[in-house]
Amino acid sequence: MWFTNVVSIALIINAISAATSASAKNPLSNHATILADNSANLGFTLYQNMAKAKKMGNIAISPVVVASSLGLVALGGKASTASQVKTLLKAAEVKDDQFHSGLSELLTEVSDPKTRNVTWKINNRLYGPSSVSFVDNFVKNSKKHYNCDHSKISFKDKKSALNSINEWAAKSTDGKLPEVTKEMEKTDGAMIVNAMFFKPRWDQQFHHKMVDNRGFMVPNSYTVSVQMMHRTGFYGFFDDSTNKLSILSMPLSHKKSTMLFIMPHHVEPLDRLEKMLTKKQLDSWLSKLKETAMAVSLPKVRMEVSHNLQKYLEELGLTEAVDKSKADFSNMSGKKDLYLSSVFHASALEWDTDGNEMDTSIYASEKLRNPKLFYADHPFIFLVKDQKTNSILYIGRMLRPKGEKMRDEL
Ligand SMILES: *[C@@H]1O[C@H](CO)[C@@H](O)[C@H](O)[C@H]1NC(C)=O
Ligand SMILES: *[C@@H]1O[C@H](CO)[C@@H](O)[C@H](O)[C@H]1NC(C)=O
Repeated sequence: MWFTNVVSIALIINAISAATSASAKNPLSNHATILADNSANLGFTLYQNMAKAKKMGNIAISPVVVASSLGLVALGGKASTASQVKTLLKAAEVKDDQFHSGLSELLTEVSDPKTRNVTWKINNRLYGPSSVSFVDNFVKNSKKHYNCDHSKISFKDKKSALNSINEWAAKSTDGKLPEVTKEMEKTDGAMIVNAMFFKPRWDQQFHHKMVDNRGFMVPNSYTVSVQMMHRTGFYGFFDDSTNKLSILSMPLSHKKSTMLFIMPHHVEPLDRLEKMLTKKQLDSWLSKLKETAMAVSLPKVRMEVSHNLQKYLEELGLTEAVDKSKADFSNMSGKKDLYLSSVFHASALEWDTDGNEMDTSIYASEKLRNPKLFYADHPFIFLVKDQKTNSILYIGRMLRPKGEKMRDEL
């Protein structure tokens, strides 16, 4: 007894020191760590506010990309137009240059396609009215820190202006995101557009033949026919019977990040879960995950979602930048002639069977004979959480997948 304890403690210590030495190779700077944390917190609040909005359907937001759009506002803003951004990210104490380099470091780290081995295309563009002239320094620094390019656009012909924005988004995502918006209310200011394509690559793939058609139940509505992929395996799982929900954790390629699913036991709208969803609650759930034999079924679908975040950011305290009479973007354009009229945050997400090779030896395991079910045939919340930086790469919900309406059986 005593001996086994010593051995297991030694193993744990070895594991801890291996983990620290691996991450110590390339530790995230202090200010980037703070910003990773605060962008995640901001992401939860933003998600909750958006989820409450009427007629809001599917949601997909990337807190680290939202933070970098805010960084752009701080870079071009002066006085309170800029300082409100730092307040929003609880980074008032962080010096300007560290603020920008920290956000840049974070985004570069989490979106590096080589080390991550998942597909994440992030394209950022700032559109300004044709009358504006962007300051050289701003253009240079926004490219450097936020990989943002610039374009002037005239809304005299609104339809063709919208077309050109949508065409840019489609082109820069290899056609995965065909549209950012159909309409635009305010066309007289500066506009930030994020056009993204994210495709998780599982650490262990699904078999491409283990796919069939099933029904996905939309609460108070109808059943949608979707493709579902199925597999068994060992995954982090926690069944919260008090709150009637379960959490599943599935590692993405090389375990650099994890996709988390939070699903109610029954078919219901998600507001009950969303009220609970904070970073603290998530951490508590994560601490209870146990490696469990699972039979997992997930929709194999594409989801395109676009949000204009301007009013949600205003709600959270970004009141100056979005106010035509108060905004000061003279670091962007050399004079006080701009305000932030829109922040389009658009993503195409694709769930597929692709991943690294499956460890087939697990099928010999006795434990896998009686797996628990995780059958995602009704709305759920999903998150992509990065291991090294602890940041949230995506938070969203699938309420209503695309697909043919089936005969209503509910
Ligand atoms: C991930 O790695 C695999 C195997 O090395 C490779 O075939 C695949 O193209 C990579 N995918 C991405 C998105 O990097
Ligand atoms: C913004 O303007 C202020 C005041 O003119 C200047 O001190 C600051 O360096 C500028 N910021 C950037 C990023 O150019």
